[in-house]
Amino acid sequence: MKVCVIGGAGYIGSHAVYELIRDNNEVVVIDNLSTGLRKAVHKDAKFYEGDITVKEDLVRIFEAECSKKPFDVVMHFAAKLIVPESVSMPLEYYHNNVEGLRIMLEVIKEFNIKNVVFSSTAAVYGEPVHEVCSEDDRTKPINPYGATKLACEEMIKWVSAAYGMNYCIFRYFNVAGADKSLEIGLEKDNLTHLVPITIQTALGIREKMQVYGNDYDTKDGTCVRDYIHVSDLAYAHVLGAKYISENNKSILVNLGSNEGYTVKEVIDEVSKIRHVNYEYVERRAGDPAKLIASNSKAKEILGWTPKYTLKDIIETDMAFRDKIGRK
Ligand code: UFG
Repeated sequence: MKVCVIGGAGYIGSHAVYELIRDNNEVVVIDNLSTGLRKAVHKDAKFYEGDITVKEDLVRIFEAECSKKPFDVVMHFAAKLIVPESVSMPLEYYHNNVEGLRIMLEVIKEFNIKNVVFSSTAAVYGEPVHEVCSEDDRTKPINPYGATKLACEEMIKWVSAAYGMNYCIFRYFNVAGADKSLEIGLEKDNLTHLVPITIQTALGIREKMQVYGNDYDTKDGTCVRDYIHVSDLAYAHVLGAKYISENNKSILVNLGSNEGYTVKEVIDEVSKIRHVNYEYVERRAGDPAKLIASNSKAKEILGWTPKYTLKDIIETDMAFRDKIGRK
């Protein structure tokens, strides 16, 4: 396949590019480098700097590439994704996530590209109605990030119905870890996610970390999340892209592990390697108590199951952070 990866210099996008290249696909990356890193783009991928919210950027790149050989699939990773940030900056989230996707779909239609793989999120479920979320559960986001992603899902479905484009929508749960090569991982300033923050604390980069709330209705009072290794998630994109293009079908699938861990359990797992200094503080805005994925649909349709455990997630992230100078 010839695959265009928009947002391919970012954390998840760069891992998807690595898996696509390991699977012998031709990869073109477009990224505005706002949060992505040029060095995270695999050396065998072609890189263009461009912004998903600027139509001329996409048209220029699609013209250059599709005149040689059209893209079989376009993958979208170019979104803002921090829950607390979305609560304080909702308009930026709507602009980047929803308007950016609208422009991308317009360009895809103009260039007659038939397959789109889209990164959505467990945040579309809001407070889940079942212990383990299934794809047909009610969607009711409780933060702007989830709301923008749900709006994107709807847009993709309508566009697909109107123009006959296939989509693969993946709802990600909590993604963490680093590629086994340790060439790429989550590298950025002002991290907000639990796993890297816990590891930074264990490594002494942070003196102490905060746990947001210990009065949730969970086994130890801290929030439950479903942690999935970024390489497992990335590989699902290779399977999803092949599935929709070969079967001329659209799918919407959760990517998680079927298992939940509390914040406290994650800290305990890291503490087995090194001590973690933490304190309990107030709840954080926009946090649901529990988010766990049913991944039976991913198993059934794509034959996908996660290979990495929480321990692997922690070990690869820690090894990556050690490699980049304990950032
Ligand atoms: N947490 C802490 N202390 C920290 C950081 C996080 O206690 O320093 C807690 C949070 O309050 C939450 C849990 O750890 O209960 C996980 O928080 P993250 O910030 O790591 O991740 P979120 O669950 O908020 O969101 C992530 C992605 C979203 C995605 C969601 C799906 O950022 O894009 O997982 O489950 F939608």
